Amino acid sequence: VSDDTPPETLRERSLAAIAEHIKSGKARRIVVMTGAGISTAAGIPDFRSPETGLYANLAKLNLPRPESVFDLPFFRHNPKPFYVLAKDLYPGNFYPTVSHVFISLLAKKCLLHQLFTQNIDCLERAAGIPSELIVEAHGSFATQRCIECKTPFPDDLMREHVSRAEVPRCMRGPTELDPTHCEGFVKPDIVFFHEALPSLFHDRMDLVDNADLALVMGTSLQVHPFAGLPEYVKKGVPRVLFNMERVGSLGSLADDVLELGDCDTGVRKLADELGWREELEAEWRKL
Ligand code: APR
Repeated sequence: VSDDTPPETLRERSLAAIAEHIKSGKARRIVVMTGAGISTAAGIPDFRSPETGLYANLAKLNLPRPESVFDLPFFRHNPKPFYVLAKDLYPGNFYPTVSHVFISLLAKKCLLHQLFTQNIDCLERAAGIPSELIVEAHGSFATQRCIECKTPFPDDLMREHVSRAEVPRCMRGPTELDPTHCEGFVKPDIVFFHEALPSLFHDRMDLVDNADLALVMGTSLQVHPFAGLPEYVKKGVPRVLFNMERVGSLGSLADDVLELGDCDTGVRKLADELGWREELEAEWRKL
């Protein structure tokens, strides 16, 4: 029986070997998959960390279950808890972390093949990562619309409503098709449970297949289909996990590297191995 496991790419499972892989020119198409863990250092809580995670701190909203705050049928019934939360999460008061800046460095060096993020905080854009290289798999706060008639809602009015934790209603007036005012609830274009992911996610998924290095950062890999992305990385292509805890299948393949702990610390270690540390800190200080 032929043993089809490809020869190991890395000389050892270490960030030094990953740095060598990048410096050798063998890693020119790097895909990055991120979650809320890369924004906790920016002051945005993640979802599932036991003490600090959002889902552990929604008691004041007395929801049927924590995830209800991002559940479309629940939102249609009662959008108020979401808008209480949105006030704390809304972009504008947060800055990119060292991890965001590291990803923007990959883009600057033409090494970023695609970034798939689950985050809705728009910090990847704020870090200067070109939007054509970003897939916001769970949408973002950048735009908003009526959940009933899909009419877009003005950004400035949205910001006002969010700052007052008030629920915005659709402003579409009567049309020849529909003589009534809509008045449906307005929701940011964040992917709620029971909603489809943007088509861009499915269109870009095949980019993972021709990646020559994958970085997985700050995610529990609990939510599919995003959580399945690391499984599309070809055998023999190194996968690096920068995360507090081991997640998904990371660590089970010959070329997996686990850098467990704070992701900013992890990317700083990789930057040191690459000789990019000065540049990384300088870029981060600029923001
Ligand atoms: N450094 C490294 N890892 C961290 C850090 C940090 N500073 N902070 C948190 N983490 C890790 C946590 O240990 C956890 O494994 O990041 C992960 C965050 O997991 P979640 O809170 O589940 O966030 P995420 O994976 O992005 O959630 C996915 O769930 O509710 C949905 O749509 C929501 O996009 C979200 C999705």
